[in-house]
Amino acid sequence: MRPDACHFDAGDWQAFTSLLAKRWHVDWSGYKQAQLQRRTHGFLAYEGFPSLRALAAKAATDGALVARLHSYLTIHVTEFFRDPDFWRRLGRLLQSRPARELRAWSAGTAWGAEAVSLGLLCEQLHLNYTILATDNDADTIKAARTLEYPAGVAAALPTALRAQLQPSGPDRVRVPARIASHVTFRVHHLLRDAFPVGPFDLVLCRNVLIYFESPARREAIGRFTAGLADNGILGLGATEALLECHQFGLVNVAPSLYQKA
Ligand SMILES: C[S@@+](CC[C@H](N)C(=O)[O-])C[C@H]1O[C@@H](n2cnc3c(N)ncnc32)[C@H](O)[C@@H]1O
Repeated sequence: MRPDACHFDAGDWQAFTSLLAKRWHVDWSGYKQAQLQRRTHGFLAYEGFPSLRALAAKAATDGALVARLHSYLTIHVTEFFRDPDFWRRLGRLLQSRPARELRAWSAGTAWGAEAVSLGLLCEQLHLNYTILATDNDADTIKAARTLEYPAGVAAALPTALRAQLQPSGPDRVRVPARIASHVTFRVHHLLRDAFPVGPFDLVLCRNVLIYFESPARREAIGRFTAGLADNGILGLGATEALLECHQFGLVNVAPSLYQKA
């Protein structure tokens, strides 16, 4: 089956998503529906439901089931310095700025590896920085706020960076207070909530817009750009090239990196 193909009858899908929105305030509008359907299809098999209608019947009264479905559908994959070449290019760009201040927003940060990677980079570059790190998933933000990870998660970091994380228990490491004090975590939904007031010198929104329908993606890019300071930088994921960047007043300055003209 093609990845963009639909798995369900259009009426059944419409009835199911309306039920989730009305009964449980789980609103999937703005997301790529074919992708959601593909994952919901996987969830049916995983939980042993014979059909979408059977899932809908149970979901009408079972909030825990809906929470499991929501978490199954939400992809929180992330890692420290995900796509190391991106971080090398970003480091060079930040180093070339005359300003030593950096106001940054990591949007769709998951459990915070992106925000902490940026904090570690800013420390290396001796910047004065603040990082707002947001995600629409409240549980993920709760976990992110602890700034503590299994030691294995940090094992892939270069030695000098790994050395900055402090042991905090058996096989646990914690981000030092020096970096933690620069990072604020907040729940924020890119499709529903007002955008944080900038201006930002850097917005990272990596591997998030890939899940949005085209109009929602364009809306988000427009709002990110509006919130950027002059010459501010927008960083996207490796597969999220913004071919129409000029329409937003952005210039592609390096792969996955755009600067407000
Ligand atoms: C694949 S992770 C990417 C994490 C990180 N940016 C990275 O590249 O490693 C996608 C994250 O986007 C979040 N997300 C999805 N829809 C969102 C929305 N509408 N508003 C804010 N965050 C969203 C998910 O909860 C998830 O944590």
